[in-house]
Amino acid sequence: MTASAPGSVAAAPRLAAGGGGAAPYIEVRGLHKRYGDTDVLRDVSFAIAEGEFVCFLGPSGCGKTTLLMCLAGLEQAQAGDILKQGASIGHLPPSRRDVGIVFQSYALFPNLTVVDNIAFGLVSQRRPRPEIEATVAELIALLSLQGHEHKFPSQLSGGQQQRVALARSLALKPSLLLLDEPLSALDAQVRTRLRGELRELQTRLGLTTIMVTHDQEEAQSLSDRIVLMNHGRIEQIGTPWQIYNQPATAFVADFIGSGNLHAGTATAGGVRVDAFVVPCHAAMAPSQALRVLMRPEDMELSATRTALSFAEGTVHQVEHLGAVVRAHLQVGAGERPGTRWVADVSKKTYAGQPFAVGESRWIGVHADDVKVFT
Ligand SMILES: Nc1ncnc2c1ncn2[C@@H]1O[C@H](COP(=O)(O)OP(=O)(O)O)[C@@H](O)[C@H]1O
Ligand SMILES: [Mg+2]
Repeated sequence: MTASAPGSVAAAPRLAAGGGGAAPYIEVRGLHKRYGDTDVLRDVSFAIAEGEFVCFLGPSGCGKTTLLMCLAGLEQAQAGDILKQGASIGHLPPSRRDVGIVFQSYALFPNLTVVDNIAFGLVSQRRPRPEIEATVAELIALLSLQGHEHKFPSQLSGGQQQRVALARSLALKPSLLLLDEPLSALDAQVRTRLRGELRELQTRLGLTTIMVTHDQEEAQSLSDRIVLMNHGRIEQIGTPWQIYNQPATAFVADFIGSGNLHAGTATAGGVRVDAFVVPCHAAMAPSQALRVLMRPEDMELSATRTALSFAEGTVHQVEHLGAVVRAHLQVGAGERPGTRWVADVSKKTYAGQPFAVGESRWIGVHADDVKVFT
């Protein structure tokens, strides 16, 4: 697996950018898709390496499903191309693209048993009986469906139905697996378990996989890389580490994780937000309007002023999140409406220095941990 090292800068660990190696496994070039006069995909380009697990992530309506449909051949783009190992597949029908698809709704055949659902594609292709039986048995074991072979979909839980749907799409041994929000109809616990199983399965099979999700936590926990979309465009492509720690745009910063994202102006030594100056190292033109981002876990919260402190605020909410305690602060009240800030404190720190609603605290940050967006 391509675990991303903190601070790594390469966009794709397994992709030699610009040559040297073989062609990428899947490459999308300048894809443009319109419905009527609405542009749904605008100049979408990216490449995926063999065996990678990639998530398309973004808000509802940003074009994730449309992009997946174009890859599957179920929708046609007006411009651009899709290549597989260097050869164009953009004009092939779905049946000739060698892809498996799983949707949010399980779309199992209600009148067929688990075994018959899984075998469906193989039976349609008139494969020999022994081959079908062996493949189905293998998938039943792989997806932990033993004991459910002869049940009908209505007799299964949501998680089990989604496993059957996955087994059915894997039966034809696709070279590319496309998943459209396959976990979003499931309850939180099943969903978390199944996503772990999915990643394990994908790694074991070495199956190049693209999954659509609007859930940033899901994307971050599963992906080798994330393609983050907004309004039909790609905002950033990167590892979960890069997307969280090196967001390319304010949109990405805002969409991923929680944070303190504030409008300000460049001034000597940092960015002025309200009446305070947040320290930062970015090169900025004087008085330039920009936005600053600080992650809650990078904030320092203290009862007295420290070398890092830049503002004093009032705690107006305390959230106990388990491993951390999150303080919501109002800064600058009295003079102006002020801004709201969040700071995460580890439970150990909190136990030694608890805080409560109504109390005053200093907030501070290292200049290194402040990102600036123009
Ligand atoms: N068949 C269609 N006809 C017209 N508009 C569509 C069609 N499918 C999707 N759209 C529009 O395209 C945009 C992107 O949709 P979609 O790809 O489903 O987004 P996502 O999966 O990111 O939620 C939306 O504005 C949606 O309304
Ligand atoms: Mg969708």
